[in-house]
Amino acid sequence: MPTIESVLNETRIFSPSGIFAQKANIPDMQTYQALCSEAELDYQNFWAKQAKEQIVWHKPFAKILDDRTPPFYQWFDDGVLNISYNCLDRHLATQADKIAIIFESDNGEVIQATYRDLHQRVCQLANALKSRNIKKGDRVIIYMPMRIEAVVAMQACARIGAIHSVVFGGFSARSLHERITDAGAIAVITADEQLRGGKHNPLKATVDEAMAMGDTASVKLVVVYKRSGAAISFDPTRDVWWHEITQNASAHCEPEWVNAEHPLFTLYTSGSTGKPKGVQHSSAGYLLGAKVSMQWVFDYKPTDIFWCTADVGWITGHSYVAYGPLAVGATQVIFEGIPTYPHAGRFWEIIEKHRVTTFYTAPTAIRSLIKQGADLPAQYDLSSLRLLGSVGEPINPEAWIWFYEKVGQSRCPIVDTWWQTETGCHMIAPMPGAVALKPGSCTFPLPGIFAAIVDEAGHEVENGKGGFLVIKKPFPSQIRTLWGDPERFQKTYFPEEMGSGKYYLAGDSAYRDTDGYFWIMGRIDDVLNVSGHRLGTMEIESALVAHPLVAEAAVVGKPHEIKGEAVIAFVVLKGQYPQGEEVVQITETLRDWVTKEIGPIARPEEIRFGENLPKTRSGKIMRRLLRALAKGEEITQDISTLENPAILEQLKHPSK
Ligand code: WT7
Repeated sequence: MPTIESVLNETRIFSPSGIFAQKANIPDMQTYQALCSEAELDYQNFWAKQAKEQIVWHKPFAKILDDRTPPFYQWFDDGVLNISYNCLDRHLATQADKIAIIFESDNGEVIQATYRDLHQRVCQLANALKSRNIKKGDRVIIYMPMRIEAVVAMQACARIGAIHSVVFGGFSARSLHERITDAGAIAVITADEQLRGGKHNPLKATVDEAMAMGDTASVKLVVVYKRSGAAISFDPTRDVWWHEITQNASAHCEPEWVNAEHPLFTLYTSGSTGKPKGVQHSSAGYLLGAKVSMQWVFDYKPTDIFWCTADVGWITGHSYVAYGPLAVGATQVIFEGIPTYPHAGRFWEIIEKHRVTTFYTAPTAIRSLIKQGADLPAQYDLSSLRLLGSVGEPINPEAWIWFYEKVGQSRCPIVDTWWQTETGCHMIAPMPGAVALKPGSCTFPLPGIFAAIVDEAGHEVENGKGGFLVIKKPFPSQIRTLWGDPERFQKTYFPEEMGSGKYYLAGDSAYRDTDGYFWIMGRIDDVLNVSGHRLGTMEIESALVAHPLVAEAAVVGKPHEIKGEAVIAFVVLKGQYPQGEEVVQITETLRDWVTKEIGPIARPEEIRFGENLPKTRSGKIMRRLLRALAKGEEITQDISTLENPAILEQLKHPSK
């Protein structure tokens, strides 16, 4: 496991400052350990106590965990609640006029919404959806720009018990189509266009394209938010304007009270094989995770200005934009644009302008900001910051130190948060007032999360040894199933050989150092982490093979300075092996094709053509060899099982 070496050398330790610890929600190791011990003694009652304290129940639960049919766990299921009530209504009596969202648009316009405003807008959209017959359990696709309206759309679904499935605005019509049909969606909420970095992205046209791909008869309604006013095509039997349907809608909407296990949303994520997986989350357990982690890991204080830069199209934007911050009653920043437009200081400018206290972003963004202007943070007043966070991939110690010194001015702890779409909230992350930080380590599990490193047989390995990261006991915020595919859910995440099918297998390799700190090493499956986003190699390969010119394709990752990993495709064409100008042409054609099929994040950085791919005698593609070739490494590995060794020479260099 090659990444162990580099991180093992990291010996710097950053203890919480007295000033930070003093005011922290978890002020020291004793407090953290006391919570862990409480959970170890009786994890079910530990979570039950949290659930009673944190959630407003319409009807309290009596049952805690139903674990009769693992891994189909149910938490607090006879309890009844509404998520939107917990995020909005509960704050109206105490802080209706508090700013919930400070929104900054791509071109710098600022719009603020109080909890009262947000509640009203959510109720109006909820009523409009209800009057168009969207009901509890119906699936609604949300394909929106990063704006207040995206949150309103999600919360409105939650209010009426509809199950939302947000699709990232960068996904193509085909990806959108796949998600619409898999979910059997009844409605789509979108915008005419998205504006990012000064560029227009035609969301509504993409929805139309997806709708024309067939099998979309389930969709009866498309709600269009007018963002740019661009001309769009409008199907009067199906399309409605957001502003028209909400205009006269009542600002009162009785929440749909649902059981704790009612699915709040599904969110599609890449796996190593087959189509994307619709990760299904619950209502109460999910909200509980999002909320406690706001307090424990983000050390939430009512005076905070919280900013998570993730798009609502990813789980981070669900838990730490649409739900967690609202559940605790925070003021948060939402930004429509990109970090480098109109200049590379945009993030720092926003922090200065809105006096952001808590800033949560991804290592890939940090690396690109270092590259675009390592000295830029010094030109802004970042004194409001008190806590920084990182998510999406391991953060390189050097990027960590830059973030710590240049952005946090050596004053702000960095919470490196390990979690996944499937876990719903942080799993392994420091309590910043208690835990001494090591750059590159996500440190220790949250109280009530029983993380461990095991071997193939599910036995715990000793500290210092790499292995599979698992979570040994059920936890409230975990994935409930894969939409429409419980078998794949069980097989993927709860393999029989791990703790008799009771350990949650995260799909990451990791190790603990001699102090017990967790270090994540990377994925164990054929999944790439490109700019902090999981991409299944299989999906990209399928897209390539769907092109009429392509006979066969294999995709691997190659370390990339900014993106973390870049997509490298090895392609065998149906016709002749291309030469000269042809290589350039076909490369561009295929790159555009993947962009169109999946989206720009999957666009191959490089395509190498071969007359064949390296295969074993049984015909299996030897990916480890391709990975080495992509990195430009000499092949020192065993190639005795390779059927066609000559092919390595051809694939060694970028095609010319
Ligand atoms: C995968 C999950 C969790 C929200 C964003 C991605 C990697 C995530 C870290 C971290 C090392 C990390 C893992 C994980 N990952 N956070 N702090 N340190 N690796 O969600 O798309 O479901 O991807 O991202 O490999 O399994 P996701």
